[in-house]
Amino acid sequence: MLQDGDGVSRETALVRDARMLWGLGWLQLISQETFTDPPFGWKGRASTIAGFVEGGFQVHFGMASTRLVNRHGYYKSQGFTAGLSRIVGDGPDSQDPDSDGALDEVTMGEIAAVSLWLALQPSPVETQPSDPIRQQSAMRGRALMESLACTSCHTQHFAVTEPTYVVAGGIGGWDGREGLRVNLHEWAFGDQPAQPQPGAATLLPIWSDLRRHDMGPALADAHDTFRDDAPGLPTADGFATFFGRSEFLTTPLWGIAVTAPYLHDGRAPTIRDAILAHGGEANESLSKFLTAPAADQQAVLDLLDTFTWFEAPLP
Ligand code: HEC
Repeated sequence: MLQDGDGVSRETALVRDARMLWGLGWLQLISQETFTDPPFGWKGRASTIAGFVEGGFQVHFGMASTRLVNRHGYYKSQGFTAGLSRIVGDGPDSQDPDSDGALDEVTMGEIAAVSLWLALQPSPVETQPSDPIRQQSAMRGRALMESLACTSCHTQHFAVTEPTYVVAGGIGGWDGREGLRVNLHEWAFGDQPAQPQPGAATLLPIWSDLRRHDMGPALADAHDTFRDDAPGLPTADGFATFFGRSEFLTTPLWGIAVTAPYLHDGRAPTIRDAILAHGGEANESLSKFLTAPAADQQAVLDLLDTFTWFEAPLP
């Protein structure tokens, strides 16, 4: 039985624009050091890359991780019959709940390997336009992000003091094992933020508070989305709590110059369209943007145009 927002049935799936897979290792470290909302997923549903990868295999490929299968078996043994049955199946063999004859569809080792690959992807960079007028405008845009209150949600940067990404064991602490530890400065592929002095923090210009906000009815999804990160055991009915329809995690703006279309469902073809679609908690900031002189609006856009990808230098 499927329910609204399960992401599985076509009737209830929500329209989504896939996020860029960059800087994810840093996002996880920021979130763990500063206790933000979970940084992964448009609604902030997964606190670790591994957790998100596990969900991706399940929802998109119908492949259950060993951990999900074991958790499902445990819930069933405790009498919570619905529990995870909706997503992993409810067949008679507890090791093969979707009854497809395949055991160990995704091992925790495979999830760790995919997560590590993702964690080591490079981060976006901020560059300078070569045209001096646009360069000046972009500089003004930086101050305007503050005065137009964009930074009340799009926090310019976070500091990470301990650049160590832990691969296994970070998978929800599911077996309590200590996992492989990787220093993101030493191992990341491609460009990375400047090497910090030993013992100094690394500033990551993510432009997000990594928190959920109510963005108003115009941006709302067609229905609620269940959340499976609720504390405690699931109720007999399965998933008791939901994300609000209009709740979204503040999107990190790093790299945004090369990631059109924008917003959770890709409805905004340009960055300007994305800004104009803000509502709810962002209403005040939006009206400041709308009443700002055209040159100021352009300055914000010029700044955002410098948040790019190392393979795509500005003209
Ligand atoms: C109340 C918090 C809040 C404020 C204030 C805010 N934003 Fe956002 N912003 C968000 C959230 C949440 C999203 C994701 C919404 C979605 O995808 O539907 C977002 C998305 C965006 C996006 C699209 C990102 C993408 O990749 O899809 C841009 C661009 C953006 N904001 C720029 C701005 C600018 C410029 C300002 C100031 C004028 C601003 N925002 C003010 C919360 C805020």
